[in-house]
Amino acid sequence: MPRSAARSHLRVRKSPVRAKKARRPKSKLRDPILLTPGPLTTTRATKEAMLRDWGSRDATFIAINARVRDRLRAIVNASDTHVTVPMQGSGTFAVEAALGTLVPKNGKSLVLVNGAYGKRMCKILDYMGRAYAAYETAEDTPPDPAEVDRRLAADPSLSHVLMIHCETTSGLLNPVGEVAQIAKARGRALLLDSMSAFGAIPLDLKATPCDAVMASSNKNLEGVPGMGFVIVRTETLKAAKGNAHSLSLDLYDQWQAMEANKQWRFTPPIHVIVALDKAIEQFDKAGGVKGRNARYSANCRILVDGMRKMGFVTLLPDKLQAPIIVTFRMPKDPNFKFERFYELLKDQGYVIYLGKLTVADSFRMGCIGAIGSREMKGALSAVRNALRELGVKSGAP
Ligand SMILES: Cc1ncc(COP(=O)(O)O)c(C=O)c1O
Repeated sequence: MPRSAARSHLRVRKSPVRAKKARRPKSKLRDPILLTPGPLTTTRATKEAMLRDWGSRDATFIAINARVRDRLRAIVNASDTHVTVPMQGSGTFAVEAALGTLVPKNGKSLVLVNGAYGKRMCKILDYMGRAYAAYETAEDTPPDPAEVDRRLAADPSLSHVLMIHCETTSGLLNPVGEVAQIAKARGRALLLDSMSAFGAIPLDLKATPCDAVMASSNKNLEGVPGMGFVIVRTETLKAAKGNAHSLSLDLYDQWQAMEANKQWRFTPPIHVIVALDKAIEQFDKAGGVKGRNARYSANCRILVDGMRKMGFVTLLPDKLQAPIIVTFRMPKDPNFKFERFYELLKDQGYVIYLGKLTVADSFRMGCIGAIGSREMKGALSAVRNALRELGVKSGAP
């Protein structure tokens, strides 16, 4: 690679949140602003943390790995009750590892489904041949905690409750607090997929007891993709020896090996972990969960208000909306062509996401990642430009 090319390869756009004068990217050569459910826009400092080679037995890396594990469980106030078991791969690998390791072969799960990620849990259980019953509600409807209670009372063979914290399919916040209390009262274990909520929606495992919480490096903590993790009650994990259906996804084995010599069993995603350590340092400096929730809530407010002014309609009422990702119904104007709309936004430096709903045509815009009011306002003017270009007068469905 010629020298100049090598240097430009390392050129990274400044953090849009921290750099006051950062401008909306004008050229396709700049990093786009990712208004997606992840991977997300990350800061320059987080990207720069990866500009090194590390050996997997390097003492500095081992210390960083330990620090990341400790910090993750502290975020949900579980330092004295739970351990963090990291898992190579994307978030789904951590979910599959948790289900395969923590639900015994003769266990039966009640899966609360109101979107693609609840359905994915069912699919994982199908693959593993583990029994479950699904309690499904519409994609814009949270489960009724009283119905969860009724189903647990009616079926004593149900050993676990599986639920999604923020169902990223729609952006809906599920009633984790109420369900956790019901599961506890009925003596059932709760495994929570908090992938798109962790770090931005307050979760205190002392008040909201969960046996396991699953999340990943590349969502609200604003790290890069490549690692999932499970924060699991130590006693629960101790009892899970021999449950797993898979060697690489055996959380118990991963934990035991890491406790024994502080190293990973198999090749660790070192750059991802080092970047996550840097991202958590910035997360702490910016006020932890409280700070992140405040920034994402402000982003969400700007987005929703601005889009509504252009006629767009959100799938969810504000009281069900998590400040993570917003689903908009597809406009009915015949001039509105999503693919063209998407391209017009991308040309202006903003990447959005197609909807995942089965009930209605929709698209999604995220409020998460290292972005702030400047980027949200920039996205709104990009949407206005795109509508003008398409000849669409209103975003109304
Ligand atoms: C709630 C939820 N669960 C699981 C996943 C799967 O994560 P991944 O795509 O990293 O495997 C996602 C991804 O967006 C998610 O939002």
